[in-house]
Amino acid sequence: MSPGKADAPRRRGSIAAEAAGPRVEVRKVLKIPLPKRREFQPKGITEMAACPPAPLVRVSRLVALILVGLAVSCARVATDEFIQICTSASSLRSPAQKRGIQIGAAVAAEPLRSEPRYAETLAREFSMVTPENAMKFGPLRPSRDRYDFGDADAIMDFAESHGLLVRGHTLVWNSQLPGWLTAKEWPRDELIAILREHITTVVGHYRGRVVAWDVVNEAIADDGSLDDTIWLRGIGPTYIEMAFRWAHEADPQAMLFYNDVEGEGQGRKADAIYARIQDLVQRGVPIHGVGLQMHLSLTKRPEPSHVMANMKRFAAIGLQVHITEMDVAIKGAATAGNLSAQARIYRDALGVCLSAENCKAFVLWGFSDRHSWIPHVSATSGSALIFDEAYRPKPAYNALMDALCGREAIRSLPW
Ligand code: G3I
Repeated sequence: MSPGKADAPRRRGSIAAEAAGPRVEVRKVLKIPLPKRREFQPKGITEMAACPPAPLVRVSRLVALILVGLAVSCARVATDEFIQICTSASSLRSPAQKRGIQIGAAVAAEPLRSEPRYAETLAREFSMVTPENAMKFGPLRPSRDRYDFGDADAIMDFAESHGLLVRGHTLVWNSQLPGWLTAKEWPRDELIAILREHITTVVGHYRGRVVAWDVVNEAIADDGSLDDTIWLRGIGPTYIEMAFRWAHEADPQAMLFYNDVEGEGQGRKADAIYARIQDLVQRGVPIHGVGLQMHLSLTKRPEPSHVMANMKRFAAIGLQVHITEMDVAIKGAATAGNLSAQARIYRDALGVCLSAENCKAFVLWGFSDRHSWIPHVSATSGSALIFDEAYRPKPAYNALMDALCGREAIRSLPW
């Protein structure tokens, strides 16, 4: 049997189905405010057994005693089941799915083809993948009239044959654009036609297969204004909602996300992202979630309580959040102290996601230090992921497992 087959997730709609029933109901359900949850309740513990709710009204002493007894034994069954899952867990994906989230990683087509250990680790540990570069505008569009789906299709085929969900990344961005597109200034109508055709073709190509799309990526500047991009200059601010509407037309079942960096916690950018997304929601633009990238380092990381508050305000307007690109760069040597500080940051971030009702996916930007974008942009930083260059699990891997299994992590967090 292929690695990962045994605990394969339901292929389509499992993110939504975890919380919201059949996938066809996703949009409708997400427009309904999410149910209020108890603040510190880790996902999964009580969700696993059909336990009755705690008594909410005064009942007779006898009935109360019976209910308490039932609740205690039910909780014990659920906890025992949970402990069993964790003691027998040989990968992150099974406890993650029991806790109601997908655990994922960005992947590259080349090592997937050429490195068996890369493919084995991916299929064993994760339930979701994001093509790191293969679905971006540039790689997909070598020329205006030619689409090259080779690498993206290879990742999609791998994912489907190993029971992994796919997050599509990304339809509209200002980076990794092809030369033919950036070489000239386009008349507004023509640029609109190019973008519409791109979104319709790409989302249509993967219709029914990509569970969530990062429709627009990194469109908001640090000061909260819209970033100066080819799309803003050529089309104007409406390009954002146009993109969401075209993506929705091309695949009405796909969940559509806005994805951004350094807006995970609190501050001007996080507030600007929230305000702009809230405006889209209020105007009926088909958007279902927000991606919090979470590119962190040992010295640059948001307060977990701030991330939690941010997630909650998106929940209040009916949106999911996904952690979409987490890594934690280490500057200098990967000493034992640095690795353990890194592990704590991973554990805290996953702890927040598990505690937030609307956080449904926790995706890393790669999984092995052998293939990480960090050393390409900073010669002195690296070791940002949860497996080392030889695919051995690092302390950060154990920290994620601990958070999933409720060991120590959740209770020690301050929110
Ligand atoms: O594929 C070409 C190869 O043919 C060529 O020889 C080589 C020479 O430089 O470049 C290769 O392309 C590179 C590509 O990664 C694949 O390795 C590009 O130059 C390089 O710019 C590109 O970097 C990617 C970056 O996005 C682009 O901005 C990173 O791999 C990718 O991890 C990174 O991902 C982004 C997310 O999409 C959005 N959020 C931030 C995140 C990190 O920057």
